[in-house]
Amino acid sequence: MTGRFISFEGIDGAGKSTHIQAVADWFRARGADVQLSREPGGTPLAETLRDIVLSQPMGSLTEVLLMFAGRRDHVETIIKPALAAGRTLLCDRFTDASFAYQGGGRGLPLAVLEPLADWVQEGTEPELTLWFDLPAGQAAARRVGREVGSREADRIEQLDLEFFERVRAGYAARAAKAPGRIVRIDASGTVEQVGAQVLAVLSARYPAC
Ligand code: TYD
Repeated sequence: MTGRFISFEGIDGAGKSTHIQAVADWFRARGADVQLSREPGGTPLAETLRDIVLSQPMGSLTEVLLMFAGRRDHVETIIKPALAAGRTLLCDRFTDASFAYQGGGRGLPLAVLEPLADWVQEGTEPELTLWFDLPAGQAAARRVGREVGSREADRIEQLDLEFFERVRAGYAARAAKAPGRIVRIDASGTVEQVGAQVLAVLSARYPAC
C-alpha cells in the first residue's frame, strides 16, 4: 500500500498553515487516513533541532545541515512508515524550503543542496506541493498582524524583505523545474479566494476521491 505525500510551501506569512487544515478536512471527508506533520520538526529529535536552528546564531551551511539532519529523521521515522501504511501525509514544508531559504535566501549553491536532498530523501518525494505565493511585503504585513499578542518572530522570520524576495525567487525557480509536482497558488487574496484555488487543485488531481 502506498499513501499520498503532499507538502505545503511558501514564505513566512503566506498563509499555508490555514489551508493545511482545510486540505486535511477535504481528504478526511473522502475517507482518507490523514496524518499531519511539519518541518523543521515532525519527530522529537527534529523538533529539538528546530528549536536550535530557529534560535541560535549559526552559518548557512550549519543551518542547512541541521535542516537536513532533522529531515532525515523525519523521513525515516514518520514519512516512510505513514506512506507504507497507506496514509495521506500532509507536511507543512519539506525539501523545497531548503532550496528556497538556504538556496535562494542564503545563497547556498545547488551543488551543496542537491546531494543532501538525494542522500536524505532516497526517493521519498511529495507527489503534490502547494506553493502559496505572494509578494514579500504583503507576507510581512500579515506576519505583523499574526505576531501581535502571540509569540515573537524567530531568527529567520526577523530577516529583511530582500531576504524573503530571494526566498520567493527560490521557490519560483524550484517550481519551474518541477511543474508537474509544484502547483502555484496565488496567496494574495482572501482566505476564501485562496481556499477556492486549493480545492480546485484537489478536485482536479483527485477526481476519484
Ligand atoms: P514555519 O513552517 O514557518 O514555522 P511557523 O509557521 O510555525 O513559524 O518554519 C519555520 C522556519 O524555518 C521558516 O522561516 C522557514 C524555515 N525553514 C528553512 O529555512 N529551511 C527548511 O528546510 C525548512 C523546512 C524551513
